Amino acid sequence: MAVQVRGMGHALPDKVLNNFDLEQMVETNDEWIVERTGIKERRIADSNTATSDLCFEAARMALERAGVEAEELDLIIVATVTPDMMFPSTACIIQQRLGASKAAAFDLSAGCTGFIYGVTVAERFLSAPDCRYALIVGADVLSRITDFTDRNTCILFGDGAGAAVIGKGSTPGILSSYLGADGSGADLLYLPAGGSRIPVSHETIEKKLHFVRMHGNEIFRFASKIMVEICEKLLSRAELDYNDVDVFVPHQANLRIIKTAMKRMNIPPEKTLINIDQFGNMSAASIPVALSMAYEEGLLKDGQLILAAAFGAGLTYGGILFRWGRN
Ligand code: UT7
Repeated sequence: MAVQVRGMGHALPDKVLNNFDLEQMVETNDEWIVERTGIKERRIADSNTATSDLCFEAARMALERAGVEAEELDLIIVATVTPDMMFPSTACIIQQRLGASKAAAFDLSAGCTGFIYGVTVAERFLSAPDCRYALIVGADVLSRITDFTDRNTCILFGDGAGAAVIGKGSTPGILSSYLGADGSGADLLYLPAGGSRIPVSHETIEKKLHFVRMHGNEIFRFASKIMVEICEKLLSRAELDYNDVDVFVPHQANLRIIKTAMKRMNIPPEKTLINIDQFGNMSAASIPVALSMAYEEGLLKDGQLILAAAFGAGLTYGGILFRWGRN
């Protein structure tokens, strides 16, 4: 069975927060942020915009580009760590708004690897004979869980959503996928309060436990190692090598992590999609936004081999290798 990426879309808030704005908020400076992370600016959702609003916009664009009607969808997965609310799922909220009445819908929590996890799960789902199309949205409004007085985290994150419609086709699209997790790193990136372990109280608010906590250095080390491992696994499973790759789409957490991976795999800058400078780390949205924008700019050609790899809270990691185009 061949499953192809049939269309991609994205949505980004209009408001730009640049490094100079952050200089006014915490003790940091543009030079440090650019040198250590590669980020120059990021988008921030206004107070009326929730994750589902960005998901809806990105999904509509992906459906239109795929030439698929919402009623034709069999499955909707929203990969996010910032759902509109604990329940119902953000996927159900957009199912209703899109009018995708036939689709099963659920959210998936795999941090920044969420989009990769979503595509992989949906691809397996489509192996059922009666299923044709799935929508996967990677979306986060990280500004809602970011402490803008903490310079260790607030410089990194941005808001956005990216979506893909995948479906059956006659020539292979997705060639290989690979997922993994290392729960021993669960305490490296987490949101302490708001779940069943530490429910929200006045005390959790006072202690700022409703904001993301991160041990950046440990994640950096993990990411620098795992990115290459993921890519090697994907390519060897498909019996291909780095020279065959036309487009490399790494998760956008830190430009230094991306450059290390490029160097180790000998993938040149002209083959690598980078949007961290403009949008920061948008978690599950980073990879689909990069692909959707590259499509819009005419950078993706039919038959090209695309290698996408990510890591994130969990710690989770994974990648997909696929050929662009549909038939
Ligand atoms: O999607 C997954 C999510 N997270 C990640 O992938 C994060 C991965 N990690 C990283 O990207 C990097 O570890 C960071 C960007 C978070 C930090 O960069 P670093 O080069 O590892 O810096 P550091 O934490 O080792 O800090 C170096 C120095 C420290 O000062 P001293 O102790 O050397 O005097 C920090 O206090 O830089 C200082 N520093 C800052 N200075 C200016 C830390 N944050 C800032 C800041 N502005 N925002």
